[in-house]
Amino acid sequence: MKQLQQAILERGSVLSDDVLKVDQFLNHQIDTNLMINIGKEFVSRFQDSKITKVLTIESSGIAPSFMAASELDVPLVFARKKKSLTVTDNIYSSGVYSYTKQEMNNITVSKDYLSSGDNVLIIDDFLAQGNAALGLVDVVKQAGASVAGVGIVIEKSFQEGREKLEEKGYRVESLARIQSLKGSEVTFLEELVT
Ligand code: G4P
Ligand code: NA
Ligand code: NA
Repeated sequence: MKQLQQAILERGSVLSDDVLKVDQFLNHQIDTNLMINIGKEFVSRFQDSKITKVLTIESSGIAPSFMAASELDVPLVFARKKKSLTVTDNIYSSGVYSYTKQEMNNITVSKDYLSSGDNVLIIDDFLAQGNAALGLVDVVKQAGASVAGVGIVIEKSFQEGREKLEEKGYRVESLARIQSLKGSEVTFLEELVT
């Protein structure tokens, strides 16, 4: 997606050989026009799937997911990383190891918001090792629902996330695929397409 690739090149910064900072439009400040177009792009890529729900994880997954869910006219559910005060039982939960933060997080979704009839589009802002996405897949499975696919805003293709998801048979659609961040330079797997 050209608008996204340009935002990454012009407004992102490479923090190290494997971390890209995109606080300017995705992880802190949000570029609303870009999010609207990201939502539309996800919908066009999954237009053959009869999606009934979008599932993401707080907090940075919410903005792009909201746009896709709104465009699809289906509800958006976000998994929580912190224990909720009001939702304490009746939950699906999955352990997600954060490689970047070197810690285990328990993600939870209330059983009220996912059921066996659902066909779920999982969306997240980044795909790195794939642990967050696999945790969301696990939650969908626990609900007896089906996974329509995984939509990612920025995939770091040099990490194993996509491989792990595809190995399990899930379709992955990433709007920007980064081949390398070496030497402070962003290289995309696909050319900037006009
Ligand atoms: P994984 O889920 O694919 O295994 O990735 P990992 O545990 O490494 O990711 C932990 C957090 O770091 C996630 O956000 C993820 O979106 C984010 N992340 C991973 N790689 C990058 C990167 O190169 N740049 C940026 N900006 N973020 C990255 P989170 O902790 O869930 O935070 P939130 O922003 O959603 O609140
Ligand atoms: Na995220
Ligand atoms: Na994030």
